Amino acid sequence: MRIALSTGGGDAPGLNAVIRGAVLAAVHRGWECVGIRRGFAGLLGDDQVVPLDRAAVRGITHLGGTILGATNRGDPFKWRERGPDGTWVERDRSDELVAAFRAHRLDALIAIGGEGSLGIALRLMAKGIPVVGVPKTIDNDVGGTVATFGFDTAVATATDAIDRLHSTAESHERVMVVEVMGRHAGFIALNAGIAGSADVILIPEIPFDITTVCDKIRRREAEGRHFSIVVVAEGAVPKGGSVSLLDPEHERLGGIGDKVAHSIQEMTGKETRSLVLGHLQRGGSPTTFDRLLALRFGAAAVRLIAERKFGYMVALQPPIIAAVPLEQALAAPKRVPLDSDTIATARDLGISLGD
Ligand code: F6P
Repeated sequence: MRIALSTGGGDAPGLNAVIRGAVLAAVHRGWECVGIRRGFAGLLGDDQVVPLDRAAVRGITHLGGTILGATNRGDPFKWRERGPDGTWVERDRSDELVAAFRAHRLDALIAIGGEGSLGIALRLMAKGIPVVGVPKTIDNDVGGTVATFGFDTAVATATDAIDRLHSTAESHERVMVVEVMGRHAGFIALNAGIAGSADVILIPEIPFDITTVCDKIRRREAEGRHFSIVVVAEGAVPKGGSVSLLDPEHERLGGIGDKVAHSIQEMTGKETRSLVLGHLQRGGSPTTFDRLLALRFGAAAVRLIAERKFGYMVALQPPIIAAVPLEQALAAPKRVPLDSDTIATARDLGISLGD
C-alpha cells in the first residue's frame, strides 16, 4: 500500500498531529506514505510530493501549521492563473491531478481539510481516486462530527485574549469589541465569549440588532459596570443587513468588529475600541484535546483505508471515532443549534446575543 496525505484550505492547529498519527499507523502496517505539498497543488506543480517516514514525522505533534504547507487557492477543478493579458482565468486540471496520482503509484489519499477541501476530495473520488477524509477547521462547522481538530485551540486563544481585555477595558471604562473567526458558524465566538465572561456575543446564526447591544451596555452602565466586552464572529450580520467583506473578490470576511464598535460609540457615547484576533487563532501549539483528537483522526483514517472504506470521513462521536460518508457530512454543514444548552447557558448568564 502506498498512500498520500494532503492538507488543504486554511491551516489549523493539529494538522501535524494528524500527519504523524496517519504516517505512524501506516508504517506500522508496512505501508509507504507520501505527502502532497500545498494542498492538492503539489500534484500539479513540479513534483511536489515528499516521502513521509517515521523520521519525517518525529517531534511534530505539538507544532502548529503543517509540514506539508497549505493553500486555499488550490482547487484543481477551478485552477486560477493569470492569462496572457493579466486577467485571472479558471480551468479544470482535475484530470491532470488524477494522472499525477497514478504516476506516483498511489493507492489512496487521506484528505485533511474543511468543507472546501473535503468537497474537492469527494469530486476526486468520483474520478477514481480512493479517498478518506479528516475534518479540519478552527470554525468547527463540518457536519457529522462533534468537533473538528483546531477548534479547541482557537477557543483557548480567543478566551485568553478576552481575559486580557477585561483589565484594560475596566481601567479605562471602555467598551472593547473583539472580532473572532467564524465564517458561517459562531462556535468560537460563543464558546470563548461564555468562557471569557463576555457581555455580548454576536454570531452568524443570530442576526443582531445594534440597539439591543447598546441597551445591554447602558444597563451595565446603570448598574455601575462601566466597561463591557463584546465578542463578534466575523460572519455576524445585523438584522436585514449583510456580511462584512474586506475583499469581495476572494470573499474575505472582516470589518464587522469595527462597524459594531463605531455604532456603539455613536449610540451610547461610551469610548469604544475594537481589535481583530484574526490568524492568531489559527497559529500556535494545539491544545492537549486537539493533539489527541488529531492523532486519533490520523490513525483512524488509516484504519478506514485498511477496511477499504473509501468516501468516508473520520468523525468524533464520543466515545468513538466514527466513519461518516463524506457526502452526508458535506450535505449538512454544522451551525450553532439555536436550541443548544450552550445558547441557553449564555442567556441564563445574562449575556446578550443581540436579538
Ligand atoms: O475557515 C477557517 C477560517 O479561519 C475562517 O474563519 C476565515 O474566514 C478564513 O479561514 C480565513 O482564511 P484565509 O485568511 O486564510 O483566507
